[in-house]
Amino acid sequence: MSRKKTTSIENLLEKREVQETTSDLSDELLQRRAYAPRICSVFSMPYTVLEETDNFDFFVDKEAKRKLSRIIDNKVQYVAGIDSPDDSLKEQYGKKRNIGIVFSGGPAPGGHNVIAGLFDAAKKANPDSKIYGFLQGPDGIVENEAIELTESLVGTYRNLGGFGMIRTGRTKIDSTEKIALSKETCKTLGLDALVIVGGDDSNTNAAFLAQEMMEDGVQVLGVPKTIDGDIQVRDVQGNVLCAMSFGFHTAARAFAKEISNLYTDSTSDVKYWHICKVMGRVASHLALEVALQTHAHITLIGEDLANYVDKQRIEKAQKAGAVDYTAYGMTLRHLSRILCDGIVRRAAVGKNYGVIVIPEGVLEFINEIQTFIIKLNTIIAEYNETHDTDFHSNFPFLSDKLEYLRRLARRSREDSSFTIWNTRDDDLFDDIPAFFQEGLLTERDSHGNFQFSLVETDKVIMELVKDYLDILREKGIYKIGIERQYYAKTVKKAGLDPDYYGPILFQDYDNSNFLMVEPPIISIKTLRQYLTREGAIKEGEKIPAAIEKIFRKSVPKFKTQTHFYGYDGRGSDPTNFDCTYTYNLGLTVFSLVANGATGYMAAIKNLEQDFSKWEPLGIPIVPLMHLEERKGKLTLVLEKNVVDVNSAAFRVVKALREEWLGTSPGNDMCRKPGPIRFTGKGEEDRPITLKLNALDTHG
Ligand code: FBP
Repeated sequence: MSRKKTTSIENLLEKREVQETTSDLSDELLQRRAYAPRICSVFSMPYTVLEETDNFDFFVDKEAKRKLSRIIDNKVQYVAGIDSPDDSLKEQYGKKRNIGIVFSGGPAPGGHNVIAGLFDAAKKANPDSKIYGFLQGPDGIVENEAIELTESLVGTYRNLGGFGMIRTGRTKIDSTEKIALSKETCKTLGLDALVIVGGDDSNTNAAFLAQEMMEDGVQVLGVPKTIDGDIQVRDVQGNVLCAMSFGFHTAARAFAKEISNLYTDSTSDVKYWHICKVMGRVASHLALEVALQTHAHITLIGEDLANYVDKQRIEKAQKAGAVDYTAYGMTLRHLSRILCDGIVRRAAVGKNYGVIVIPEGVLEFINEIQTFIIKLNTIIAEYNETHDTDFHSNFPFLSDKLEYLRRLARRSREDSSFTIWNTRDDDLFDDIPAFFQEGLLTERDSHGNFQFSLVETDKVIMELVKDYLDILREKGIYKIGIERQYYAKTVKKAGLDPDYYGPILFQDYDNSNFLMVEPPIISIKTLRQYLTREGAIKEGEKIPAAIEKIFRKSVPKFKTQTHFYGYDGRGSDPTNFDCTYTYNLGLTVFSLVANGATGYMAAIKNLEQDFSKWEPLGIPIVPLMHLEERKGKLTLVLEKNVVDVNSAAFRVVKALREEWLGTSPGNDMCRKPGPIRFTGKGEEDRPITLKLNALDTHG
């Protein structure tokens, strides 16, 4: 057989088709780079000024007042556009500046557009201004690792996801030494301003640096970034100043697209429950948005679980003249019962499959686990403070860590004043599966935060679910409902009378479209016993094949596939909302710089409304801070927002939960959000959570 002559690899690689099809420059990429997001009307004016307002009231923490005295009097500032300012303003606005920018914390889609917005505005005000990008997060500031950003570099990343242009890191500038080095860097580069694009910890850093660098004349400003959506700002009256951090919409849309695909697969293949853990740290904002985007069968919302009250237990205790404090709040065991309830009810209408969304931080809302997290945070932080090495390098294996905890428990028995870890804690901890113990003892991040993304939350919950489903199967409660028509057809085909076997086999033969096999029938053996007892077959006689087939169909297997939605969505290219939001944040931050502000976070008010109503502003960072436990100590940090269970978005999800669970016969109604787009139609213009919450605040 003659072989066809093949082109040499060298020739092949030179062919235009090969070069075109393997080029890094996809059409999508080129279109994104060329896309110009809309800008808020104030930015179409030649100059912007800041207009201070007293319309918003905040509560300011005493500790914040003490530690951040130089920026404590900051008021909210609206950015306004003007045509012809006086000469001094013109001069101030257009002066040549050096501005540094840094990404801090996890990547969030849209970060590059913050840089693009800042770059464009700064160059428009004065083409000689320089923008420096600090490399790999705050370490870049401490170690003076920076590059000057050019039009061509910025252009390469416009409207693109990730933080690849300058990368990111999680270092916190929290020691006198690191602050001194940072000040030195700013001096060396001759910086007028430093912009920190980050989450709660990074904006906290921005406030402290603003305080420290005031004397050097360096302005420090923050930009609210995090896919977790937990940076939101309201004043004491509930007026919304910043409805959402950037990156949230894209991550939620990316997760939702994948999860809705799983929904389609699961309702086609009808054999798996897909367990989808989604990022978001403690807060369940992402899970809530995913629920709204996909209508997944079950979505857990941590904040909702925290409010759980077991009424039955309270009543039982009341009858006995007692108070059952354990009835308040959710336990892991009870959570697994709630999931099982949904699974069992779907199975009853023939749907032994579906999609469950679990926020990665859900365990924080489970009393017993939260206690462990807080206690272990303190133990690890105290250990690190009193020893020169750190807890995790000293106790590399789980067995070492457990032994250390055991020693602490022993100490608490001998010394009653030592209470952090007692014998009861140790015993309860011993009952937890090893992989979860390992998770709870996992290394904290540089801010002392528990690293939820490293814990197999879904596995912890689903193991309990599996155990309880086994019990329900044994009790004859977890069964697959058999469609009446299918039953009748199968039995008739075998020459048997469906109406004879039906009332024997099923508990609700007369009035249901989905028939549930009698609870005591849980195996072939019990089926035989049942049929014999009811006289349907004689002792020792074979079970009719059609009846056995129906029974086997009613026995559920609980098959799961687990998925983690986090890093993938975090790396997505931004939605149109995030492209626009971040570009305008970049423009806003320049307006703050050009007008001499420091200790502010750039934000856009009315994000929850139509773009025409967006209002760029500067929010003082100090009032956003509160005291929080970090590394075992109360520390001043920017307050994170968890899901408000009284918000319109949550109440809508709660009201539609039953419908989305799909426990009635017929097709489930998945919502397909479709792919992320940055232009054109095909994507809602802002997160659904925001749209719904706006209905509360704007009628
Ligand atoms: P930020 O708070 O820094 O924006 O990061 C958010 C996040 O993506 C969380 O959702 C997740 O728990 C965490 O980062 C993962 O951290 P890491 O990137 O260190 O694994």
